[in-house]
Amino acid sequence: MLRILFLTHAFNSLTQRLYIELQQQGHEVSVEFDINDIVAIDAVSLYQPDLIIAPFLKRAIPDSIWKNTTCLIVHPGIAGDRGPSALDWAIFNNEVRWGVTVLQANQEMDAGDIWTTQEFMTRHTSKASLYRNEVTEAATIAVLKAVELFQKGNYIPQPLDYNNTENCATPRKRLIKIKGRLQPLLTQKLRSIHWYEDSTETVLRKIRSADGFPGVLDDILGCEYYLYDAHDEQQLTGKPGELIARCGVAVCRATINGAVWIGHLRNKQSEHPFKLPATRLLAKSIQHLPEIEPDQQTGYRDIWYEQAGEVGYLHFPFYNGAMGTEQCQRLHGAYIEACQQETKVIVLMGGTDFWSNGMHLNLIEASQSAADESWNNINAINDLALEIINTNSHLTVAALQGNAGAGGVFLARAVDEIWASQGVILNPHYKDMGNLYGSEYWSYLLPRYAGEENAERIVQARLPMGTQEALSLGLINEVIEKNGSAFVQDVKKRAADMADVPAYSLRLEYKNKCRAVDEQHKALADFRQEELKKMHMNFFGFDPSYHIARYNFVYKVAKSRTPLTIALHRRTSPLVEEQPRKIV
Ligand code: COA
Repeated sequence: MLRILFLTHAFNSLTQRLYIELQQQGHEVSVEFDINDIVAIDAVSLYQPDLIIAPFLKRAIPDSIWKNTTCLIVHPGIAGDRGPSALDWAIFNNEVRWGVTVLQANQEMDAGDIWTTQEFMTRHTSKASLYRNEVTEAATIAVLKAVELFQKGNYIPQPLDYNNTENCATPRKRLIKIKGRLQPLLTQKLRSIHWYEDSTETVLRKIRSADGFPGVLDDILGCEYYLYDAHDEQQLTGKPGELIARCGVAVCRATINGAVWIGHLRNKQSEHPFKLPATRLLAKSIQHLPEIEPDQQTGYRDIWYEQAGEVGYLHFPFYNGAMGTEQCQRLHGAYIEACQQETKVIVLMGGTDFWSNGMHLNLIEASQSAADESWNNINAINDLALEIINTNSHLTVAALQGNAGAGGVFLARAVDEIWASQGVILNPHYKDMGNLYGSEYWSYLLPRYAGEENAERIVQARLPMGTQEALSLGLINEVIEKNGSAFVQDVKKRAADMADVPAYSLRLEYKNKCRAVDEQHKALADFRQEELKKMHMNFFGFDPSYHIARYNFVYKVAKSRTPLTIALHRRTSPLVEEQPRKIV
């Protein structure tokens, strides 16, 4: 067992995944945010780690650290790739294969000896999506392998040598082929879209290579915006660069050979310089544009239904998993419609990157009254959760292709069965958002599935959870050892089986009986009222913690210290949350 210190810019999805995977291997992991050199040096001296891993670092590690302790850097590039825009370039250059490399820190950024590398096939998608899926999977394999090699004690990593592709400076034969190179920062100048020259495919690639950060800076109707959430339009055309339609949150802009939908924008100069739906930011200037009803061929779809045999699938890949009031209401409507079909099972698919992250904090932040909008949003999610819990016509499933956080986890728990892809990370707690109490009927659902004691620990812990732990706690029902399209195929097969078993009717009957018994014991309306009473205090009460935490989250205010829940080395006494979550 090793003592591993994570030195990281943030506790992001990849860091959370590695944190869970390494703990599952029996290692102890403590985390320090890379705030400045002194803080990092202090963390190392407090923790005395065997090994330091940097899953997501934006600066060089101080010399005094890497000279004394082995530091492994996770770089989102193939072996030999260097530079701050690794993934951006991969998408920008339309690379078919890309990779993750674990290298040792030395005096030069990304130029240290290579421990492991893991390649993957890319997809036509955003940088953030590639990062949350393929990069995270590859990084997990590469880091676990590197840690295993480190534990063996005699492994000599391979020096990075661009000139020598045959021989190796180490006594071993070269194992890793150096394919990458040093690439500069991908600047806004290089990213900029030339609407009179760039094809749809080029525009999509440019926007996707900068999505989630920094976005491609562009001019729309005389104002500068960063563009995100770009999708191909199959039918509409127009004068290149012109806005030609709107649909839901998105606007459609013509290219030389077609058009693209842009769902989200960030206006750097505005009062709200964070990502918001495009139609909201451009509202006044686009009223004249034709409004498109989305279907398979045209428009921007963030909710759609498909049916195969006796199973209905509801997809809702909301950008960043955030569900605003209006989105919840539309999803609620789509869910009611799905329930009216002649099917037996409804599968809530969420999106590839996230199943749901609960209320839309950006929209709340940008609204006239954040308290009122928070209230509307939580009630809209609750209405949807209630509809799902009370579904007596179908068995229901949540298929978690991607992560879920806060209210999104409990909304998922409203179904009969949660099936999760093996690498999914859940954050089943609200407290990090300024001690938010939370709703979505969690106070009914969590004890029902995880038991009273575990329920209390889960919400107090404020820690990410892997699928194995979630399964052992009853928070989810199945872990499917597959990712991406293979996971979806598996879900389809299982859902079809679920609808087909002879015991289907008995099971539905039993579910409805249980619900009736539960309702008699304590009405859902009472759970909701109790939760919302606390939420009302969070939104409208004297304590502004939720509003401050939301502001910090939305404006991405850098953390000034690492939370004690993950910084083991900074604890002076055990935390309540430190008690093991699992009850045997
Ligand atoms: N509303 C609006 N945006 C959200 C969001 C939400 N509820 N949850 C996540 N996002 C956005 C983030 O701002 C980030 O945006 P970016 O693309 O501009 O960087 C993006 O989604 C990814 O989130 P990030 O925090 O970087 O991902 P992560 O995997 O590191 O962490 C969570 C996932 C869920 C732990 C974290 O996003 C979170 O705490 N979200 C808030 C959950 C919440 O409190 N919801 C309200 C109560 S129901």
